[in-house]
Amino acid sequence: MEIIAVAGNVTKAKTGALVINHFEDTRHPDGVTAIIDQALDGAISRLIKQGEIKGKAGEITVVHSMGRLPAARIVVVGLGKRKKLTVEGIRAAAAETCRWLRQKGITAATTVVMGAGINHIASGDAALAVTEGALLGTYTFRRYLTKKENNARELTELSILSRRKEKPVIEEAVSRGIITAGAANWARDLVNEPSNHMTPALLAEAAAGMAGENDLDIEVLEKEQIEEAGMGGLLGVSQGSQQPPRFIILRYRGKDSDDVDIALVGKGITFDSGGISIKPSEGMADMKGDMAGGASVLATLLALSQLKPAVNVTALVPATENLPSGTAMKPGDIITAMNGETIEVLNTDAEGRLILADALSYAVKLKAGAIIDVATLTGACMVALGKICTGAFTNNQALVDKVIAAGNSTGERAWQMPMFDEYREQLKSDIADIKNIGNRYGGAITAAKFLADFVGNTPWVHLDIAGTSDTDKEKGYLVKGATGVPVRTLVNLVTAMAK
Ligand code: BES
Ligand code: MN
Ligand code: ZN
Repeated sequence: MEIIAVAGNVTKAKTGALVINHFEDTRHPDGVTAIIDQALDGAISRLIKQGEIKGKAGEITVVHSMGRLPAARIVVVGLGKRKKLTVEGIRAAAAETCRWLRQKGITAATTVVMGAGINHIASGDAALAVTEGALLGTYTFRRYLTKKENNARELTELSILSRRKEKPVIEEAVSRGIITAGAANWARDLVNEPSNHMTPALLAEAAAGMAGENDLDIEVLEKEQIEEAGMGGLLGVSQGSQQPPRFIILRYRGKDSDDVDIALVGKGITFDSGGISIKPSEGMADMKGDMAGGASVLATLLALSQLKPAVNVTALVPATENLPSGTAMKPGDIITAMNGETIEVLNTDAEGRLILADALSYAVKLKAGAIIDVATLTGACMVALGKICTGAFTNNQALVDKVIAAGNSTGERAWQMPMFDEYREQLKSDIADIKNIGNRYGGAITAAKFLADFVGNTPWVHLDIAGTSDTDKEKGYLVKGATGVPVRTLVNLVTAMAK
């Protein structure tokens, strides 16, 4: 979909559909809606009076203009109660509207900057939300649908209409939204790919292809180099698979120095069967998405390469399958991570932390100023928080505060979990430095405590996206499958830190 900022008068907009808004607690149309109502001889006020237009969030009503306006149709979108409108509400409304337009076979539409000026929402923020909502909400993953009847309709053009003097602000917001939503959708594509089409090697190739197109520097370690680096966690997890592992290093350089200001580490398990500690078959197919953290940090660098903030960021993605076989790691095995720490592997399904141990050690070796890791790490995190928010864990309160704030402005919420020392006791091993599982309780926290062993004193935040990386229902700007969480948050965080 192409999104363009245009300046002009709503009564002059020549388009298949003109999108305007109405609030639940407003009895008479106001603003732009009132102007359109007048041109339609009060058609909208009549529908409000008759109760057909209530203004509830998610409500969409179409009025054909029958030649009274250059716009063929007027689409009145409900935004709920005026006082309750948020940027997140705008993002969702734009998404639902665009899906509705697409389903009606409308290929080009014009919308006002929904929600601009309401509750002090700046026009730029509203336009960013409309852009992101439109692009995220109409995302589809159709590459394996071969039948004609599956040839979906497409909304190919959305014009965002504003007054002339606001157009530059709107234009800038639109270009930012195209970048952030584009990156999130790129991550969604990687995550939605089945594991036979997204092996560690293919994930590295996708990263390299993207890096080449966007002037990012990439280095991919293959098995021999991973051995030389002493990455015992990544090697241990990969040894049960026919697919060789990869360690992806992607660099964004936004300023003239070799310092790594931030390392973004993402779990890249392209399929998690559990290994010898095999998972039950129900739901196992979802484990093709166990590289969502890795996809999200790669996608973040895609966005950074286009936004160009003055900061240096390196993404690190250890990539492997976790499978059972005659060569697989066995419960009780002891491996040595890149930093020399020994790990007793009591459950081969707690594999994410093993590959992250190496990647975090690598980030420390780079002397990164801060580390943020993103991982579909524990089912326990989903038990604790549901699929509503990401779990956040840290050794540095100031850093996690920034991550959570960045998440609140993108609608990708995170909730901080405790990191009390007592949780570490569960990971004491009799015969190695640490074991890879705790007891039944607090599993998301003990997993985070495990990771903490490998970051030293570097300010660090761990984001457990087991619940938020995918969704089984269409809602707002989320569609079934991968969500692209937390790409927009990381982009926000990094660009804010560059200022
Ligand atoms: N990839 C899973 C976690 C997961 C579960 C992500 C469900 C998304 C949805 C992870 O590797 C895993 O298997 N974790 C185990 C840890 C346990 C063995 C300590 C879990 O959560 O059961
Ligand atoms: Mn697992
Ligand atoms: Zn896993």
